[in-house]
Amino acid sequence: MCQVLRVGGMAATELAERFDTPLYVYDSRRIEENALAIRRAFGATDPLVAYSVKANGNLAVLGRLAGLGLGADVTSAGELHRALRAGFPPDRIVYAGVGKTETEILAGLDAGIYSFHVESAQELERIERLARLRGQRADFGIRVNPNVEVRTPHEFTRTGRAIDKFGVPRQEAAGLLEWARARDAVRPLGLAMHIGSQIVDVEPYLRALDKLLELAEAVIDGGTPLSYVDMGGGFGIRYEGEESLDIQALADRVAPRIARLGLALVLEPGRAVVGEAGVLLTRVEYVKRNGRKTFVVVDGGMSELLRPSHYGGYHEIEVVRTGAGGGDRASPEALRVDVVGPVCESGDFLARDRVLSPAPRPGDLLAVHTVGAYGFAMASNYNGRPRPAEVMVEDGEASLARRRETIDDLLRGEEGVR
Ligand code: LLP
Repeated sequence: MCQVLRVGGMAATELAERFDTPLYVYDSRRIEENALAIRRAFGATDPLVAYSVKANGNLAVLGRLAGLGLGADVTSAGELHRALRAGFPPDRIVYAGVGKTETEILAGLDAGIYSFHVESAQELERIERLARLRGQRADFGIRVNPNVEVRTPHEFTRTGRAIDKFGVPRQEAAGLLEWARARDAVRPLGLAMHIGSQIVDVEPYLRALDKLLELAEAVIDGGTPLSYVDMGGGFGIRYEGEESLDIQALADRVAPRIARLGLALVLEPGRAVVGEAGVLLTRVEYVKRNGRKTFVVVDGGMSELLRPSHYGGYHEIEVVRTGAGGGDRASPEALRVDVVGPVCESGDFLARDRVLSPAPRPGDLLAVHTVGAYGFAMASNYNGRPRPAEVMVEDGEASLARRRETIDDLLRGEEGVR
């Protein structure tokens, strides 16, 4: 039990009072520390740490990371727009994604980004044509699919196998670079990979990187100079007592490999920067029993935090007693419950068969931990639910990073009823 749960020096109860629930709260110091720790671990290679905007694209988060001199990894024109608005210099932005549209490529060209990470021959042809028509030169890297098996908690977050949609097979990459060499509107800069997300072992990175570097060496020997390799993100964090990825061990094994070829290193961490710096505060509305089960019905569910429902993701949940509702009535010390949201789906849950202590009562708060990454970012308006507010806490001061959506926001852009 934790009646005085604090986030960034502020009491959870006070934050919930002031900003209402459900509420995302981020601790800015921890975000900055996490980012700096990654850069420090890889210090010897002086990497470009391109924060993966998809994990948490709130401008308050991005602004702080841009302020530390990080770069950004974006995956759509929307994320590119955010990254630029937050102050990331265009020449520190990489753009990956299997489905870049013409409009999106033009946005990248307009901005003058560092590198497009090309995921197919057709995409490269499209980038070349658009850059040529513009009289520009597009710098790019090939996102290679290294075909490695990697253990992640869910199949949906493995991206480096031949059966996955991402990247270009190794055998094709050299041909694309060759094709590009003969054309002025495109310039090959590097090779990139991203093999999955929430990876806690060093080995799969090394297996994939060695394949990438072998290819890089062959390409360079063949007369096409390259300037960087991008190892992607995916650094695993602790959700349920598991060990997080040993980033220092990874860095120590990567550094000599990179140095040998004299290439710069790019990294794209998302989760490892923001994941554990975020908490979702949600309030208990009802506690009900159906058959043998106890359901704790809270005001946030799969529309606020999709990870449990979509990936079976585990998030620690802490009960924060508020004294509201339950008064001093005796309640059992601990109770095995399903924590569920208000959405009309049986798949709408934040936890199943979870023992919570003390047993939650209506009016109590639940703090759902480690939701800074892919929390708000994956929130939706499903079931007519306004998306929650986001708050940034810094040295005991809280500021609104995104206001709660209103019911009117939900109708914005729709034709009025005639
Ligand atoms: N680079 C690329 C090209 C990516 O596709 C991703 C994530 C990253 C970097 C950052 O990965 P990270 O360091 O955050 O693991 N929604 C899922 C995770 C999907 C990740 C998609 N790509 C989840 O909630 O677990």
